[in-house]
Amino acid sequence: MKSLFFPLTAGMLLCQTCFDMAAAQGAQLEPTIHGPYLQQIADDGATISWTTDKPTAAWIELWKEGHPNQRTIVMDAKYGLKRLGTNSHQVTVWGLQPGERYQYKVYAGDRGKQGDPIKPGNEPADGTFRTLNSNGDRCSIFIANDIHGDSKRFLDLMDQHVKVGETDFCVLNGDSVSWLSGKDQLFKVIVDPAQKIIKDVPIVYVRGNHEYRGGNAINLPDTFLPQPNGEYYGLLRQGPVCFVILDSGEDKADTRKELGGVTQFEPYLAQQAEWLKKAVECPEFKSALYRVVIVHIPFAGEKGFAEDLLRKLFVPTLAKAGVNIAISAHTHYNVFVPGGKEPGIPFPVLVNDNQGAITLTADSQKMEVIHYDRHKKILRTERFSPNQF
Ligand SMILES: [Fe+2]
Repeated sequence: MKSLFFPLTAGMLLCQTCFDMAAAQGAQLEPTIHGPYLQQIADDGATISWTTDKPTAAWIELWKEGHPNQRTIVMDAKYGLKRLGTNSHQVTVWGLQPGERYQYKVYAGDRGKQGDPIKPGNEPADGTFRTLNSNGDRCSIFIANDIHGDSKRFLDLMDQHVKVGETDFCVLNGDSVSWLSGKDQLFKVIVDPAQKIIKDVPIVYVRGNHEYRGGNAINLPDTFLPQPNGEYYGLLRQGPVCFVILDSGEDKADTRKELGGVTQFEPYLAQQAEWLKKAVECPEFKSALYRVVIVHIPFAGEKGFAEDLLRKLFVPTLAKAGVNIAISAHTHYNVFVPGGKEPGIPFPVLVNDNQGAITLTADSQKMEVIHYDRHKKILRTERFSPNQF
């Protein structure tokens, strides 16, 4: 979401008279079943997702915090068409200002089909978010992983560590469930329990090997979207930190019979490795004071098919470019491998088990990565100075 301009211009700002007009229209609105929740946060945009019982038109009202009378309507639309045939609504807003706080209210119903142009209402916000700011001086994120359907643990960890209004985004670093089955599964496990937080704090969804499994694996984007570049890997810059999000694939070869012949991740990883070579040349990576890799399957600490493949495909590029740390998951036990301990891996690898969580904060002076256990006891703190690659 770069370079497109979607200004909240005076021509799009509507007044109290319009609110009265909207009320008089007698809109038939569909209640929200799951959500709303935030994804694809960027310097200039975000995606707001929710579901309704029936397929219908949907839209949001968006305004800068503190300016509730200056609302813009953004439809759920793709490729120039309103998405009228779905009850899984995803509204992407763009052209926003970096580091700015916005509020939104979601709507769905026939009024979107028949009552154009839709006039804004005056109801309170469903959520508030702050866009990222690549040129900002701070960063604060939360990372959990290997939830495997344990909603209570997930929510406990979020409650312990996520500060609404302060945490920039929450990373789910893979294996949120053991297999992707019914279409409501991720709503019940992740979205509904955490909705009070993720309506305000965006989720960044990183796939683990278990996100490759189950009849609904191909439909993951219906609930958790890829990065704004359309892939489940990408660069994400917040303030002084550039995150390299990688999609580490299955933990077995495509040919293994346990996978049922439905995966083709090995060429996908090779393509991703080629992307990575170009990504580390991007200004958002090169200009970052700190560089952090987030990848479900760790590069170090274990040996196996996936670990060996990832080391071969990704680590030489990362080692040459220079990164501070790789944060991983998957093993279900805590691991810390110092930089240089394993051949060819000059950066440390920190693995969170399937119980604790990690927070990362940074400013122009230092970056701090703190690893907590299930009960918020600090297990390890790693500090980095700027440009210490
Ligand atoms: Fe895993």
